[in-house]
Formats: sequence, structure tokens, C-alpha cells
Amino acid sequence: MNINILFDSFSAVATEALAVFAVDTSSGKEPDVKPHVLLLTDDGPTLSAAQAILDGGEFRADSCETLLVHAPSGLAAKRLLIVGLGKAAKLSPHEVRKGAGAAVRFAKPRGLRELAVAAPVAESLDPQLTVRALTEGALLADFDSDTYRSDRKDRSVQSLQIVLPPSLDRSAAETGLREGIIVGESQNFARSLVNEPGNRLTPTILGQRAAEMCREFGLRCEVHSTDKLRELKMGAFLSVTQGSDEPPALIVMRYEPKDAPATGPVLGLVGKGITFDTGGISIKPAESMEKMKYDMAGGASMIAAMRAIAQLQPNVRVIAIVCAAENMPSGKAQKPGDVQIAMPAPDKPGKSIEIINTDAEGRLVLADGLTYAKQLGATHIIDAATLTGAIGVALGLINAGGFSNDEDAWSRFATALKTSGERFWRMPVEDDYRELIKSSIADIKNTGGRYGGAVTAAMFLKEFVDDTPWIHLDIAGVSWTDDAKPWLASGPTGTAVRSIIEWIRTYAS
Ligand code: BES
Ligand code: MN
Ligand code: ZN
Repeated sequence: MNINILFDSFSAVATEALAVFAVDTSSGKEPDVKPHVLLLTDDGPTLSAAQAILDGGEFRADSCETLLVHAPSGLAAKRLLIVGLGKAAKLSPHEVRKGAGAAVRFAKPRGLRELAVAAPVAESLDPQLTVRALTEGALLADFDSDTYRSDRKDRSVQSLQIVLPPSLDRSAAETGLREGIIVGESQNFARSLVNEPGNRLTPTILGQRAAEMCREFGLRCEVHSTDKLRELKMGAFLSVTQGSDEPPALIVMRYEPKDAPATGPVLGLVGKGITFDTGGISIKPAESMEKMKYDMAGGASMIAAMRAIAQLQPNVRVIAIVCAAENMPSGKAQKPGDVQIAMPAPDKPGKSIEIINTDAEGRLVLADGLTYAKQLGATHIIDAATLTGAIGVALGLINAGGFSNDEDAWSRFATALKTSGERFWRMPVEDDYRELIKSSIADIKNTGGRYGGAVTAAMFLKEFVDDTPWIHLDIAGVSWTDDAKPWLASGPTGTAVRSIIEWIRTYAS
């Protein structure tokens, strides 16, 4: 999709469709049932073209509600699409992101290949963030997951013009557009990786994709396999890979800007990259097992975040590690009851782990990934993983889980969420939960029983970060959606990419 900004009056833009946003200004207390709708433009002809329709009373400006007007009088555009952004009092850049998405997803199946959107003007909206949100929303909405259908119709919206009133700050708009393209395209890159089935995205292929990306954007990249895992004594990671004929990939990506302060932080990104999770010997039921191709979504998030960081160029060093493997049952697979020794640190032996359930494999590969991140110099760590079904039980499929041992790191993440519009709910990692992962035969065991499954999984990871400021994101419930949204196709969502990028940027000076 080609996106550009245009300073012009909306009514003068000749295009297939012009989208304009509207909010619901009713307080909910009015006695009348007539909707109160406010169009977010000061363009006279657009206002009059829409007024007759709005007077009709059927459009309420609910979030992502759409109404199409053909041959609007006084406008150069062939169609006028009115898109609701919900309650005026709750207007935010994220609502704009969804609204832009709804416009694109309205246009796509109707074969409209060009679209212009009137950037919404409102006091509560920052112009740069608004243009960025429009750009991201449009790019994300253009993605569909039907890659392998031979009857796939390529109905992408090819051109999007963001029309701004001439009074708006040009450089703010340009920055918003540039960042929106970088972030939106990177999130779609993560989604395209997550969408690939297990046979077409093995750990080795994931490593190749990461390396290609790094070459394209000027990042250092190494992709290691079994030999290196043995050399580093990554016993936990190796135990997951041993059941599969596919070799693992330990992907290391480095962003090292010259202007980063020598004593400044080194951010470590660690992603779970299970390209297919059968559960291993503790095999999963057949129903929905095909979904387990998305068990590398955390790893894909980290690769995508690095893609964005390479272009946004904050002056902070970032190292990303993706632990990619397939979790398979076989004659060589690990068994419940086995004891594995995790990667040692130079000053400490590796922790011994009793395997209770071979399906709790994500925490095993991440354990060694976290130790390695520290060994490579990470001073602050964030990990992302489709770690537990339990996080969906705890939070539903709306919020993802966030865990942290450090108030400053978490408060930066909370700030990042305001820009990203993503939803993470903080969960506990208090020491009392540690009891649940104690083992009688080893230092710890890899499951914590029936209750608080997402928390005990996080507690397991915490064993490997010690005092390093750390955030863990459990995205199992939100990385894939079966229900299409008005602004997003069904399939991989790319959740966490935007928040990780913004979190990294808070450390730039
Ligand atoms: N990959 C799964 C978690 C998952 C579940 C991701 C649903 C996406 C959707 C993970 O490896 C797993 O199997 N976790 C187990 C842990 C249990 C054995 C302690 C789970 O959640 O059941
Ligand atoms: Mn599993
Ligand atoms: Zn898994």
C-alpha cells in the first residue's frame, strides 16, 4: 500500500472513496432517541454532503460503524464513507487506528483500490499520533491470511491519501506517516511469519527469514543450531529440540548504534519460537492442534520489533534472541520425569529442572534464552511468548498478560501501551508462588499444578533472570483471532510488536 499525505481541502480530492470520521456526542441521558453525531472535519462541502444522511438518524457513529454515500454532491470523490469512532469523550489515537482499519476493510472486498481519509481534527487528538495511527490502522487492515488459497483475490487497497487541513504542522504529519509505515509494516511482517504453517516455517527457515530481514535493514545477525546449544550447555532448550528431526535455531540479532552511551542500558529481547507445538510426549488433543503453528508468535514479535528499531534508530543498544524449535514426540523425545540442566552462568551452575509435562516447553527454551541474553550483556530484559492457555482463562482474549519484577521497567511499558493502544494486564510474580514450582528431585519443576498456570509459568522464567529488570509478556490468548474484527482480519494479530517497540524507545536518550 502506498500511503502519502496531502494538504488540501477534502472536498477537492478526486478519488474512488473519501472516508471521513464521526463521533457520537450524546451523553446517553438525552430523552430523545435521535443520534447526536459530529463529523470530525471543518470542510464545508463534506459537512453538507453528509448532513442529509445524518439527519436521517440511522447512523450513530458507533465504533467502526460505516455508512456509504454515492455521488456525494459538492465533492470531487465518487463516494463518501462515514466511519464512526464511538463516544466523543473517549476519542483516542487507538480509536482512529481502528477507524482507519474499518475504512480499509470496507473498501477491500468492494474492489476499491484507492482511498482518501480525512485526518480527524479534534482538540483531544495529537496530530503526529493521529497520522501515525491512521497509517498503522490502514496497513494492518490491508493484511489477509488467505495466502495459500488459489482463488485468492488480491484486493489490497493500493493507494491511501491522508488529507490534512493546511493549518496542520507538516513535519509532525510527516514524522507520523514515517513511523506509522515502519511500525505497521513491521507488525504485518510478524503476522506473515506467524501465519506460515509448521511445514513451511521450520526453525531453520525462521532463522533464514530473520537473517534476510537483518541484511535488509543493516542489523548484525547470527543463527546457531545444535552445536552451539551444546557448547553453551543449553540443556533446557536442547531437551525440547531432541524429539524433533528439525534442528533448532538460536537466532541472535543486534542493533548497536554508534551514538549509544557506552554505559547506557543494553536491552535484551527474548522470544519463544516454537514453530510447532504438538506437546511432545505429553501430547495435545487433536482438536485445534493445527493452531500450534502460531507458537512462535513471541519470536516473530521480536524479529519484527528489531525490523522497526533498525529503521527508527533510537540511540540504545538492543540484542534480540529467538529460541526456535519444534516440540515433537518421538523415540528421542524427552519424557515426563526426566531431569534437565539449564544453561550455566560463568559464576553459577545451571539449574536442574524436573520435567513434569513436556508440553510446558516454552519456559524451557526461554530459560536458556534469558540466561544467554544476560551473558551477552543485557541489562534489561523483555520476553514475549505464547506461553500458557491459562492466561486466556485468567484474562479472556482481550488483555494479554504482563509480568514484571521491576517498577521502572513496568512503568515504561505502561507508558508504551498508551501509544501502542495494545492491552496488557499486569499479573503477579510474588515469591509466595515459588512454592508451586519446587521439585523434590531437582531445583524446580516445569509445571505448577492446576491453579494460576500463567503465574507459575512466569515464576519459572523469573528463576533465570534473577535481579535483572525484566518484563514477561504472555500473548497466548491474543496472538491469533478466529473472529475477524471490522478493522482486522481473522488470523495472526501481531500483538505485542507495537508495545515492545515503544518500550525500547523509552530508553533512548
Ligand atoms: N503453546 C502452549 C500454550 C498455548 C495454548 C498457546 C493455547 C496458544 C494457545 C504451551 O506450550 C503449552 O502447551 N502450555 C501448557 C502448559 C501446561 C502443560 C502447564 C498449557 O497451557 O496447557
Ligand atoms: Mn506446549
Ligand atoms: Zn508451546
